[in-house]
Amino acid sequence: MHMLVKLIFIMAAYQHNIARARGVCGTPNLIPNTVPVSDSEYQTNTSIRINCTEGYVRKAGTSNKIRCIEKDGSIFWHTDLPLKCIRKSLVCSRDTGHYMTGAHDMSATLFLL
Ligand SMILES: *[C@@H]1O[C@H](CO)[C@@H](O)[C@H](O)[C@H]1NC(C)=O
Ligand SMILES: *[C@@H]1O[C@H](CO)[C@@H](O)[C@H](O)[C@H]1NC(C)=O
Repeated sequence: MHMLVKLIFIMAAYQHNIARARGVCGTPNLIPNTVPVSDSEYQTNTSIRINCTEGYVRKAGTSNKIRCIEKDGSIFWHTDLPLKCIRKSLVCSRDTGHYMTGAHDMSATLFLL
């Protein structure tokens, strides 16, 4: 009887470990100038948004959404349009803002200066 109880405990612990190891993405590898994520484990099919740190903005046309996916037995973070955080332009437009609606590449900013 005691042996059986022990065995059940061992098996329960074993299955628990398998369940934890399966279908979980770890902390994503972040690019420079992004806010660290709070959790260290994310379920498959979970999407999160990575934010740029203070003073940086998301480059137009890049996506800050990443998704934990499972493919061919591996689990990894996936993104269609990898996020790029670029320095917020220090140039303030006094007129319509036609040329400066948001963020610029460093090169473009230097050119405007
Ligand atoms: C990024 O900002 C959005 C909107 O404010 C927020 O919902 C999200 O949790 C943030 N992401 C991280 C990783 O902090
Ligand atoms: C994740 O989504 C795919 C496709 O939408 C689905 O086939 C799969 O079962 C989902 N996995 C989990 C763990 O929810």
